[in-house]
Amino acid sequence: MNGMKTKVLGQKVHIYDEVDSTQTIAHKLVASGAPEGTIVLAERQTAGRGRMGRSWHSPAGKGIWLSLILTPRIPMYFMPQLTLLSAVALCRAIQKVCHVEIGIKWPNDLLIHGKKVSGILLESSGEDERLKYVIAGIGISVNLLEEDYPEELRSIATSLAIESGGKVSREGLVQAFLLEFEDMYALYLEKGFAPIRLLWEALSVTLKRPIRTSTPSGFIDGIADSLDNTGALTVITPNGERIKIYSGDIELK
Ligand code: BTN
Repeated sequence: MNGMKTKVLGQKVHIYDEVDSTQTIAHKLVASGAPEGTIVLAERQTAGRGRMGRSWHSPAGKGIWLSLILTPRIPMYFMPQLTLLSAVALCRAIQKVCHVEIGIKWPNDLLIHGKKVSGILLESSGEDERLKYVIAGIGISVNLLEEDYPEELRSIATSLAIESGGKVSREGLVQAFLLEFEDMYALYLEKGFAPIRLLWEALSVTLKRPIRTSTPSGFIDGIADSLDNTGALTVITPNGERIKIYSGDIELK
């Protein structure tokens, strides 16, 4: 990575050919004193992790598998806001570099033509409600072709190369992402979540659409209505009840 244009993010970069997960490496780097803004990149992950215990397909040389160390002075319960902020930064960077129609499915999946092209996993450590650090894990399927996906992913996953019709520079996209993230992060630390929420809403492919979510007591169907100030999704059910979804997944219907 040459000539980083950011001020803090990506000033320290650790690049690996193969790791189990860039998240694991980033946690270890924090333990050995790595500063905010340090990033970890790998060509390939052998045990890439996704949200909710899922695995993340990370073949060699085809994607951006990146972890970013952050040390914001915010309470633990604001973590979901950082997840949404990451999605906004990533979406804007992809729009700038690839000119594709991309949107955010709550909370932080990036979709093109209804298929997932990128995912975000935030892992944190804290004490007494105070966040010590956050690792923002970013996976972008950049130059994967259809044959690079296992059969079971082909109907739900896509890549920037498939959607934009050509190879995309991974280095250019990492730079664009870090620049966007740095801007969003500065805005958030100065003005709070309100401006990020507006940006998220404008990029959302979730709001005003019918959705389904599953809870331990069964499915809930409704219309995704709005984001609240913590980042939770408000859903209006067919009988007019407003419920909030704080975590987990939704299905767009
Ligand atoms: C998801 O959509 O479930 C989140 C996927 C996050 C994948 C990235 S790739 C880089 C970082 N390292 C990991 O092991 N996971 C994240």
